[in-house]
Amino acid sequence: MSHPMFRPRRLREKPLLRALVRETTLSVDDLIYPLFVVPGRGVREPIGSMPGQARLSVDELVKEAKDAAGMGIPGVLLFGVPAEKDARGSEAWADDGIIQQAVRAVKDRVPDLLVVTDVCLCEYTSHGHCGVVEDGVVRNDPSVELVARTAVSHVEAGADMVAPSDMMDGRVAAIREALDEAAYVETPIMAYSAKYASSFYGPFRDAADNAPQFGDRRSYQMDPANAAEAMREIALDLDEGADIVMVKPALPYLDVISRARAEFAVPLAAYSVSGEYAMIRAAGRLGWLDEERAMLEALTAIRRAGADIVITYFAPDAARLLERGAHRR
Ligand code: PBG
Repeated sequence: MSHPMFRPRRLREKPLLRALVRETTLSVDDLIYPLFVVPGRGVREPIGSMPGQARLSVDELVKEAKDAAGMGIPGVLLFGVPAEKDARGSEAWADDGIIQQAVRAVKDRVPDLLVVTDVCLCEYTSHGHCGVVEDGVVRNDPSVELVARTAVSHVEAGADMVAPSDMMDGRVAAIREALDEAAYVETPIMAYSAKYASSFYGPFRDAADNAPQFGDRRSYQMDPANAAEAMREIALDLDEGADIVMVKPALPYLDVISRARAEFAVPLAAYSVSGEYAMIRAAGRLGWLDEERAMLEALTAIRRAGADIVITYFAPDAARLLERGAHRR
């Protein structure tokens, strides 16, 4: 009878041994929780395609933010959904815009929580594109100007970090310059560097009401078939002054995360998007998989691929499970 020399199963038998040799950790410290804010008071409007998530008015947002901070979640990523939209998306940089009100309220009431803002025009423009449209084309440079202005207004309202998601060329440099000019030299930029034109944003478009009214985003977001180009996008954003770079979505792009981890010694975020969330929730509801285990497995896989920071709608659920030690079982 021949015996194997190595028996990897030796280290798999006991939970404590498994924990000793575990290569990847998932901690509440790694998580950022995205939230949607709408006008009004006492509004908690469930998002049909994202069970468990809701569009919140500022007062409800403050409660949610307080709960998140109480669970040890380090930061929230805020998206504004304004009452009025126009061609240039002017509420995006309005002093009393929905996101500016939200940032002020959360910073005031929950000071021990990082407030990160998504900087983009698509929730604010009537046509739903992430930039200025002229003759049916999304124009880069005029959009960059407005995006930079929007970023400054978020920081003026108190945002701890801005996260540009528009994918216009040169926006990180423009934002850095505008922030520095406004004396916000210490405010970091988390750039959505490799953001793909993905169908996995579907549920988000219900939540943020930002579906393009014509065409699609393929003239500015990346082709899902490209990975080398993602490295180029990341390098450009770092040159322009990005402090944290991001790959988005996460699960269908683990190879891109892993490659970015190998090529760049900088903090790396991955955004596990609305469609990734919806798939796990939906299958869980149908009884087709164990939702809690699938959630922790997916988040751990994103960390294993190399992400330092995981942006996920599961943040509170994951925080509760991690607190109970569910990931060690
Ligand atoms: C654009 C933005 C989008 C997401 C984050 N920022 C949508 C888009 O590009 O259409 C998607 C997030 C998600 O699907 O969870 N401001």
